[in-house]
Amino acid sequence: MNKLYGLLGHPVGHSMSPLMHNDAFKQLGINGYYHAFDVPEDKLKEAVDALRLFNISGLNVTIPHKVTIMEFLDEIDEEALMIGAVNTVVNIEGRLIGYNTDGRGYLTSLLTKLNKPLKDSNVLVIGAGGAARGIVTALANDGVALLTIANRTIEKADEIKNHYLKYREANINVLPLKKAQLNLARYDIVINTTSIGMSPRVDEVPISIDHIKQTAVLSDLIYNPIETKLLQLGNKKGIITHNGVGMFVEQGALAFLKWTGKQPDTEKMTKIVMQQLG
Ligand code: ATR
Repeated sequence: MNKLYGLLGHPVGHSMSPLMHNDAFKQLGINGYYHAFDVPEDKLKEAVDALRLFNISGLNVTIPHKVTIMEFLDEIDEEALMIGAVNTVVNIEGRLIGYNTDGRGYLTSLLTKLNKPLKDSNVLVIGAGGAARGIVTALANDGVALLTIANRTIEKADEIKNHYLKYREANINVLPLKKAQLNLARYDIVINTTSIGMSPRVDEVPISIDHIKQTAVLSDLIYNPIETKLLQLGNKKGIITHNGVGMFVEQGALAFLKWTGKQPDTEKMTKIVMQQLG
């Protein structure tokens, strides 16, 4: 029988996940079908109950449900707990288990661009919203040398740091965005996790990169546009840049692996995503 998988979000109309996962099922000869379920914010519990009834095999979870879904699941994996959000659910013999593959997916993609080990790197994370949580947790769990979170609202950066320190020790600094901009020459990896630069605000940058190191890697989680203004400026300077397509593909590939035990072809997934993004 066809196994049912899906995405819970609102809105989901423009999601590239159905195409990406359904193609991977086909490539690997798996009898699976992935559907994007548009679930309004106040209907999440009903949706999860209904999908349990239909014996859903696995789920992705996106905005606005990543945090709220946690209370409707039977178990949460440790990294997802540390992040405080779930983007992947696996049905194991009727028990729904929550994971978060965002941070790990991001790191898998970032590692292909690095010129020195993560553990020797001084990393700046710009932003302290939901997206920053996954990145900070994965970086700190992987033992990055020094991690700084810079945000306009410093309290939100403090909150992410303190949440992490409840679970494990780590070398995490917190800075106002303006200060980080002045100190930019210190960092080996600079990561934008804010939505500044995302379509339609394509002319904005979260930070000036005038003082960035020539050997730095400049990374942006945004994939629409594929090359944000920030990355365009980085490319002009001739530094290594890294866009958000890899994170999107790798978080999906990790979810797929958890659902099926099979590694999908991430090159093919990337092709599909790039086609969709035009
Ligand atoms: P998400 O959960 O998708 O990461 P979010 O929670 O709205 O989104 O977080 C957005 C991030 O972008 C925050 O770090 C926010 O900074 P504040 O915490 O100070 O609000 C940052 N951000 C958004 N617009 C910004 C702007 N114009 N200047 C500076 N930071 C901005």
